[in-house]
Amino acid sequence: MSRNILVTSALPYANGHIHIGHLVEYIQTDIWVRFQKLRGHRCVYVCADDTHGTAIMLRAQREGRSEEQVIADMQEAHVRDFAAFDIEFDNYGSTNSDENRQLCGEIWQSIRDSGLVKQKDVEQLFDPVAGTFLADRFVRGTCPKCGAADQPGDNCSKCGAAYTPADLINPFSVHTKATPEVRTAAHLFIELEQLHEFLNEWTQSGDHLQPEVANYLKGHFLGEELRDWDISRPAPYFGFEIPDSPGDYWYVWFDAPIGYMASTKQWCDANGENFDDWWKNEQTEIHHFIGKDITYFHTLFWPGMLKTAGFNLPEKVHIHGFLTVGGRKMAKSDGTFIMASTYAKHLPSGVLRYYYATKLGTALDDIDLNLEEFVSKVNSDLVNKVVNLASRSAKFVAEQHLSETYPDDGGLFAAAAAKADHIAELYEDCRYNAAMREIMALADEGNRYIEDKAPWVLRKAPDKADEVRDVCTVALNLFRQIVVYLSPVLPQLKQQTEELLNQPIAHWDEIQTPLTGTPVSKFKHLMKRIEDKQVTAMIEDSKEDNAADANAQAADAAAEETAEPTFHEADTWKDSGDALEKEPMADECTIDDFMKVDLRVARIIEAGHVEGADKLLQLTLSLGGGETRNVFAGIKAAYEPEKLVGRLVVCVANLKPRKMKFGLSEGMVCASGTGGPNVFLLSPDDGSVPGQRVH
Ligand code: 2FM
Ligand code: ZN
Repeated sequence: MSRNILVTSALPYANGHIHIGHLVEYIQTDIWVRFQKLRGHRCVYVCADDTHGTAIMLRAQREGRSEEQVIADMQEAHVRDFAAFDIEFDNYGSTNSDENRQLCGEIWQSIRDSGLVKQKDVEQLFDPVAGTFLADRFVRGTCPKCGAADQPGDNCSKCGAAYTPADLINPFSVHTKATPEVRTAAHLFIELEQLHEFLNEWTQSGDHLQPEVANYLKGHFLGEELRDWDISRPAPYFGFEIPDSPGDYWYVWFDAPIGYMASTKQWCDANGENFDDWWKNEQTEIHHFIGKDITYFHTLFWPGMLKTAGFNLPEKVHIHGFLTVGGRKMAKSDGTFIMASTYAKHLPSGVLRYYYATKLGTALDDIDLNLEEFVSKVNSDLVNKVVNLASRSAKFVAEQHLSETYPDDGGLFAAAAAKADHIAELYEDCRYNAAMREIMALADEGNRYIEDKAPWVLRKAPDKADEVRDVCTVALNLFRQIVVYLSPVLPQLKQQTEELLNQPIAHWDEIQTPLTGTPVSKFKHLMKRIEDKQVTAMIEDSKEDNAADANAQAADAAAEETAEPTFHEADTWKDSGDALEKEPMADECTIDDFMKVDLRVARIIEAGHVEGADKLLQLTLSLGGGETRNVFAGIKAAYEPEKLVGRLVVCVANLKPRKMKFGLSEGMVCASGTGGPNVFLLSPDDGSVPGQRVH
C-alpha cells in the first residue's frame, strides 16, 4: 500500500556554509527519501534555510549589508552545496518567507487561545555597542564558582556549574568585547508544563523515538515540572514581529520548525497539492531527521506546538550523532573542518555517501570519518567489488544484446532477490550500515561467479560466443540487482547503470526480475579509485580555507549560539560532541607506583607574570600549615594571573625541585589539555582544604 510520507532534515543556519559534519544528516535523509520513492511511496522531502536571530543580524551589520542580502547569498551557496552531493529536495525554502510568517501567526494564535502564553520580566545582558540583547552563549566571563576565565554565559566548561549570564564575573560580549549591561524586558513564555501529560505519553509511547532518546527525556526533563519556554525577543531582532505584541519578535526556535510547514506549503502551491493533506491528515507520516543537539526542540517544544495547533504529530524523529574525523572533533587547525565545497573540489560525492551509509545505524553515537579507512573501504567495496562486476563483463557484450532468456546461474539471482525484504527493512529502520554489509556480501557472490566463469578466457575460444553472452548476462544482472539495492545511496551509479543497460531503474521490485534481450551500451568507466593524494590535497586546501576565513572565529561563535539551549541539562549530550584531543595512554602502573606521586590540594595565594618568559606564570601555593611552594607553570596563554589567586588546585608535592632560568620550581600543578590556551587546571570541589592528599 502506498504511503504518504513527508520528510525533513534540520534547517541549516543561514550564517555558515555546509560542512561534512552537516552532510551526515542530509545524506542520511536523502538516502531514506530515495529509498521510499523507489518503493513506490509518495514521499516529499522539504527543507529550508533557518534565517532569523541575532547571529544573522550581527553578520549583516559587520558586512554592511542587509539581512536579506546575507541570507539570499547563503541560500544560493547551500543549494549549490547540497546539489553537489545529490541531495534532492522537493522544495528548499526559507524561514523568512510569507508562508512562514502566516503559519507562525496561525500557530501562535492557537497557542494564545489555549491559554499557554504568559508574560514575565526577564533580566538579560545587553551589548551597548552592538545595541542588542545577548543570547547566553554570546556572553563570556569568569565562572562565579571556580574562577575559570572565559566561560560561556550559561555553564562553566571547567567546573560544570550552571548559572545565568548575569552571574558571570567580568562578563563581556563575544561580539564587541564590551561589558554588557543588565536590562529588564518583558518576554512572552509558553507554559510547557500544561502539556506535560501529553508529552509524557507521546515521547514514551515507544513509537516515535529511539529508546535511548525516550529515556533521556524521561530522565532529564519529564521527571520534573517542565520549564516555561521563553518565546519572544525584544527589538532589535531579525525575525517576525509578534502581531499582538508589537516590538517583540518570535525567538528563532519558534519560527524555525514552522519552516518545515512553510516549505511544504510552497511545494503544495507549486504542485497543486492541498497543504492539509500533508499536515492535517492522520494518514500522512511526518519524519524529521535531526542531530542529537537539537533533541529537546524537536521532541518537546515542537510536538507541543503541533498538538496545540491541531496539526499532525511527527510519526518519527530520527536522531543521529555528530561527525568526528579520525576520532576527534572536526578542527580548523587540523584541516578536518572540511567544507562541502572543498570536499567536492577533490573527491566525488558518491564515495562519501557510501562511506556514511556504512557508518549510519540507529545509535546516537558519533560517527567517525577515518580518512585511511575511507580510502580503502570505498576502493575495495565500490571499485573492486561492485563496479568490477560490470567492467569485467560489460565490455564483452558491449553494443550487443543480453541473452534472450536468463541463463542458469545456479540460483544466484534468486538468492539475492530473496534478500529484498530484509534489506528494505534495514533501510526503513535507518540501519544503513547493516544494509551495506548485506549488499556487499551479494557483490562478493557475484565476483566469485565471474572469477569462476572467466569470460575473458572464454571469449578467446571462437565457439564460445553464446556462453560468453550468457555469463555476462548473469554478471550484469547481478550487478544491476546490486545497483538497485544501492541506488538510494549512489544515485549516479544508478543513472550510469540505466544508460549502460538501456533500462530505467524505476522501482525496488526490479530486484526480482532479470533483464533479458536488452541492448548493452559501449562500456564507460563507472567509478575511479580514489587516491590518498586527493585526500591530502583536500586537507591542505581546507587548512588554507580556514586560515583565509577572517570570519571563522565569528562563525564559530555564531555556530555556538545556534543551539542556544533553553534547558542547560541537555548539554549532557553535547559534551560527547567535544571529542577529545586523544593522547596515548601511558604504560600500566601499580597502585604502589601511583602512590609514589604525592598529590596535594593547594591554594594559589599569589600569581604573577615572569619577566622574559613567554609561557610561564609564577605561582605561590599554600599547602596548609604555613607551608608554601614556588611553582613555575606553563599556563600563561590560558590564565590571567590575577584571576587565579584564591583558587584551589592539585599539585605534585614531592616533585624534585627543578632549577629553572627564572628560579627554583618546587612542584607542579595538574592540568589537562594540549598546551597553549588549551590548558585546564584541575580543581578539587569546595570543601577540600590545602594540604589534603589526593588519592
Ligand atoms: O541547529 C540548527 O542548525 C538549526 N538551524 C536547526 C533548525 S531545525 C528546525 F527546527 F528548523
Ligand atoms: Zn567554573
